[in-house]
Amino acid sequence: MDAHAVNNYESYAEFYDSWQDSWPESVMTPCVNMLADIAAGRPALELAVGTGRIALPLSQRGIEVSGVDLSESMLARLRRKPGAEKLSITQGDMADVPFEGPFGLIYCVASFEYLLKQEDQLRFFVNVEKRLATGGSLIIQTIIPNDAIFSNDFRLNRMSDLPSGDFEMASVMLMGVKGDPVNQFLDQRIMVLGEKPKVFHHKIRFVWPNELDLLARCAGLALHARWGNWQRDTFVSTSRLVISEYRRA
Ligand SMILES: C[S@@+](CC[C@H](N)C(=O)[O-])C[C@H]1O[C@@H](n2cnc3c(N)ncnc32)[C@H](O)[C@@H]1O
Repeated sequence: MDAHAVNNYESYAEFYDSWQDSWPESVMTPCVNMLADIAAGRPALELAVGTGRIALPLSQRGIEVSGVDLSESMLARLRRKPGAEKLSITQGDMADVPFEGPFGLIYCVASFEYLLKQEDQLRFFVNVEKRLATGGSLIIQTIIPNDAIFSNDFRLNRMSDLPSGDFEMASVMLMGVKGDPVNQFLDQRIMVLGEKPKVFHHKIRFVWPNELDLLARCAGLALHARWGNWQRDTFVSTSRLVISEYRRA
C-alpha cells in the first residue's frame, strides 16, 4: 500500500499551516527546547519536516537542521518562510533517510505512523541507525490511540470536549476516526467547515511502544528514555503521547 496514494498531503498543506498557527506556545516551546538540548550543538535531521513547524524554531537556536518530506506542497510552504534558507531540505521518503549524516539528533514528530507497512517502519529504523553520529539520538513522537476509536462508529468529539457558550469562528474542524485494531490502522476524516468546506482523509499505522522498541532493537538501537509529553513527564499507562529516545545499543 502506497501511503502517498492514500494520504493526499498536497491539498492538506494550506490547511495544516493555518491549523498549526493555532498551536499554543506552551506545546511548541518545550518540544523545541528538548530537541535543542539533545542536539547539543550537533547537526539535526527532521524526518517528515512538513512546513517547518519545528525545524524553523530549532534552526533559530543555532542548530544546523536538515529535513525531508514526501510532499512538495508542504515543502513549498516551508521554503517560503523566513529562515528556511538556513535549512537543508529535500523531497523524498523518510524511510530512505536520504541524507548522509552523521547527525547528533534525528527526530520525527507526528509522522512516523504515516509509514503504513511494518517493513517501511523497520527500514526507517535501519536507515536512521546508519546516519546517527556516535552518541547520537533518535527521538520519535507517536500516539496511543483512544480505545473508543475501535468501536463500530466513526466518532466525533464528545459534547463535553466542545467549548461552551456562544461565539463566532471563521471555521470549525471536526475529526472522525475509525480504528482497525488488527492491522493497526486509524482511518481519519478531518472536516473543515468554513468559507470553503473541505474533507481530508488520512490513514496511519499506529504502533504500541513495545513494537516501536522491537523495531528499534532489530536495527541495533535501544530505548534510552521515554516521556509522556515534551515537558518530560514520565510515560505512564494513561499517557496518550509517546516520546521515545533511542541510541545505538
Ligand atoms: C502531520 S505532518 C507533521 C509535519 C511536522 N513533523 C510537524 O510536526 O509539523 C505529517 C507530514 O508527514 C509527511 N509524510 C508522510 N509520509 C511521509 C514519508 N513516507 N516520507 C516523508 N514524509 C512523509 C507529510 O507530507 C506531512 O508533511
